[in-house]
Amino acid sequence: MLMMKLLLILAFSGLVAGFSSNSSDSFLPKLLLVSFDGFRADYLQNYDFPHLQNFIKEGVLVEHVKNVFITKTFPNHYSIVTGLYEESHGVVANSMYDVSTEKHFSDADDKDPFWWNEAVPIWVTNQLHGNRSSAAAMWPGTDVSIHNTTPSYFMNYSPAVSFEERLNNITTWLSSSSPPVTFATLYWEEPDASGHKYGPEDTKHMSSVLKKVDDHIGDLVHKLKMLGLWKTLNVIITSDHGMTQCSKERLINLDTCINHTQYTLIDVTPVAAILPKMNVTQLYNKLKVCNHHLSVYLKEDIPARFHYQHNDRIQPIILVADEGWTIVINETLIKLGDHGYDNALPSMHPFLAAHGPAFHKGYKQRTIDSVDIYPMMCHILGLEPQPNNGTFGNTKCLLVDQWCINLPEAIGIVIGALLVLTTLTGLIIIMKNRQSVPQPFSRLQLQDDDDDPLIE
Ligand SMILES: *[C@@H]1O[C@H](CO)[C@@H](O)[C@H](O)[C@H]1NC(C)=O
Ligand SMILES: *[C@@H]1O[C@H](CO)[C@@H](O)[C@H](O)[C@H]1NC(C)=O
Ligand SMILES: *[C@@H]1O[C@H](CO)[C@@H](O)[C@H](O)[C@H]1NC(C)=O
Ligand SMILES: *[C@@H]1O[C@H](CO)[C@@H](O)[C@H](O)[C@H]1NC(C)=O
Ligand SMILES: *[C@@H]1O[C@H](CO)[C@@H](O)[C@H](O)[C@H]1NC(C)=O
Ligand SMILES: *[C@@H]1O[C@H](CO)[C@@H](O)[C@H](O)[C@H]1NC(C)=O
Ligand SMILES: *[C@@H]1O[C@H](CO)[C@@H](O)[C@H](O)[C@H]1NC(C)=O
Ligand SMILES: [Zn+2]
Repeated sequence: MLMMKLLLILAFSGLVAGFSSNSSDSFLPKLLLVSFDGFRADYLQNYDFPHLQNFIKEGVLVEHVKNVFITKTFPNHYSIVTGLYEESHGVVANSMYDVSTEKHFSDADDKDPFWWNEAVPIWVTNQLHGNRSSAAAMWPGTDVSIHNTTPSYFMNYSPAVSFEERLNNITTWLSSSSPPVTFATLYWEEPDASGHKYGPEDTKHMSSVLKKVDDHIGDLVHKLKMLGLWKTLNVIITSDHGMTQCSKERLINLDTCINHTQYTLIDVTPVAAILPKMNVTQLYNKLKVCNHHLSVYLKEDIPARFHYQHNDRIQPIILVADEGWTIVINETLIKLGDHGYDNALPSMHPFLAAHGPAFHKGYKQRTIDSVDIYPMMCHILGLEPQPNNGTFGNTKCLLVDQWCINLPEAIGIVIGALLVLTTLTGLIIIMKNRQSVPQPFSRLQLQDDDDDPLIE
């Protein structure tokens, strides 16, 4: 099994070496990164996705991608393309406030590079590599001049642009640009929008929404085949976060605990960011006893596992609602589905599927971290990764040019080795026993054996 793998890898490197002697652009590795917003991992088990399942059959699947806290759209999309936790890339929420500059950020007002410049996303690195360009059919940050660079080809964000137009334009850029587009993104708002509206447990509505998502994947594959890109292009289909069911029976009303004149609410739910206007400790003490379904943290006490502390844009107090609970102020209007909760919750996780010359065919893996996607993408594109929080080793089993031992294989090897050792030990013991049998017996045996002269 392992030998075969080794041989395959050797054969493959031979092939690559053969191809790379042709200096033509057509052998530059290319990657299209696709996100369907709010695609919860277990939708794949609970709904039909004929097109996506075909894609997976010829590619790889990671069933659960552990994303980053807070499990919101902008922060997670930026972690995928930088490999950094939110505290390290600086996009710590969809709504932010920076005390020192008094700047505000929201998903509708996101064009100031100030918010993005703490990290370098992969489309910038790719573009600065020389003789390559990047293209984007939307993805948070791709229409912003980050480190004075936008992708050579991009669209300003507009939810009004159809999937078909995004797909047509991104594939045109991928197939006919000079210098060639080697990294491209494609973003689509569903199933997030409907997940919020109906809640993930509304199977009637969600099944028709998810069927449309699957049809879009079918259109994508069809288009790539028509343009002759299917065999050479690497395609990753993933998402930023999942979705969980909410209810107007599960509300946490801050107005019942603290007076709105005493703080500024920077972000609301399910993780509230609180900038106190009064003594922080006193406000914290009031909030701490506010509701059983609310975890309340002073910034310095935020659990280390969230990697959500060391940034000025994280406010002095944060409140984290339990799964399915919604923090409100005086309003009662709420969404039936939401995300943003603890990233340890499986309902918050997306999945990842990938297809193309860089990936194995028909390989499944239980999990990776979303920050691991970035070093994998850099490897595929031959880019030097920026400092990041991902682990390339976690994705090695997905890639054809990597030597990898996964857990079941490792266990197999250990058991195999133990069997060999036990057998050897057994043999040695048997042989020792033979040598150490008491003299009279050996003599007897020898005498018996003497009957047959050939034994000598
Ligand atoms: C190199 O690429 C060009 C254009 O893609 C092709 O015509 C040619 O046959 C290739 N040469 C080799 C040795 O593969
Ligand atoms: C880019 O391509 C041009 C011509 O195709 C070549 O002369 C130049 O050396 C290339 N630059 C880099 C950085 O590879
Ligand atoms: C897509 O491409 C077409 C044709 O070039 C162009 O007219 C249109 O504006 C593009 N759409 C977007 C959203 O950029
Ligand atoms: C909130 O505080 C302000 C100023 O201290 C006070 O006038 C107001 O009555 C308070 N409101 C509530 C609901 O306690
Ligand atoms: C805040 O209040 C606590 C206790 O109520 C007190 O010990 C502390 O000195 C106060 N801090 C400030 C900055 O006033
Ligand atoms: C809700 O609170 C905001 C301030 O937090 C206030 O401006 C608004 O009038 C309140 N709305 C209602 C319906 O009480
Ligand atoms: C994440 O990576 C950044 C950049 O290398 C580093 O500064 C930071 O300490 C890392 N975070 C953790 C938790 O390791
Ligand atoms: Zn959302």
